[in-house]
Amino acid sequence: MTAESRILDDRSLDILFREARTLRSWKKQDVSDVLIRAMYDLFKLGPTSANCCPARVVFVKSASAKERLKPHLDSGNVEKTMTAPVTAVIACDLKFYEHMDFLAPGKNLRKWFENDAPQIEPTARRNGTLQGAYLLLAARALGLDCGPMSGFNKEGVRKEFFPEGGVEVDFLCNIGYGDRTGLKPRQPRLSFDDACEIL
Ligand SMILES: Cc1cc2nc3c(=O)[nH]c(=O)nc-3n(C[C@H](O)[C@H](O)[C@H](O)COP(=O)(O)O)c2cc1C
Repeated sequence: MTAESRILDDRSLDILFREARTLRSWKKQDVSDVLIRAMYDLFKLGPTSANCCPARVVFVKSASAKERLKPHLDSGNVEKTMTAPVTAVIACDLKFYEHMDFLAPGKNLRKWFENDAPQIEPTARRNGTLQGAYLLLAARALGLDCGPMSGFNKEGVRKEFFPEGGVEVDFLCNIGYGDRTGLKPRQPRLSFDDACEIL
């Protein structure tokens, strides 16, 4: 495949970026478990340092699971979350290194992390958040809309959905088919020169 032929067409770039928005209202259209698994099969392929793959995700879909999430949400996030077909709880496993013999065979990285404890938490957090971003793009690539949120009680959600501990909740992401009625125009972004430089 040539480099030129790998450039996505305009339609794909619109879907992933230019026309993609943060959605807060949802059509009553189910997101199937097959589609949720397809999303994982894409986002798991995004890169993480040493292939550590620390993200752990609970897809909150049933009405009963949504009720467990509800008391931990900031009031402004309740309605959009309770009406979303799925809410992903994106967390990172602080014991991700226990899987390193499988994820990076023959490299003895489990021992490496165990001997360098200060590296563990920043590695889990950085790569878990990256994987959360890959999840958003995978969802968009599969025709879904997303509504990420940090307005919730992290420790409450952690206790509810990861009671065994050793896991830190990062952010939530509503997923479904968005209703764009009343969606305000996109807010501005910084210019290249305000945000970047080429040296
Ligand atoms: C990590 C993160 C946390 C966010 N938290 C909230 C939230 O708690 N509630 C909310 O309504 N929107 C939340 N947002 C949505 C942002 O305000 C929105 O993505 C941003 O303004 C860009 O909007 P656009 O995608 O429509 O351009 C969050 C977004 C991100 C990425």
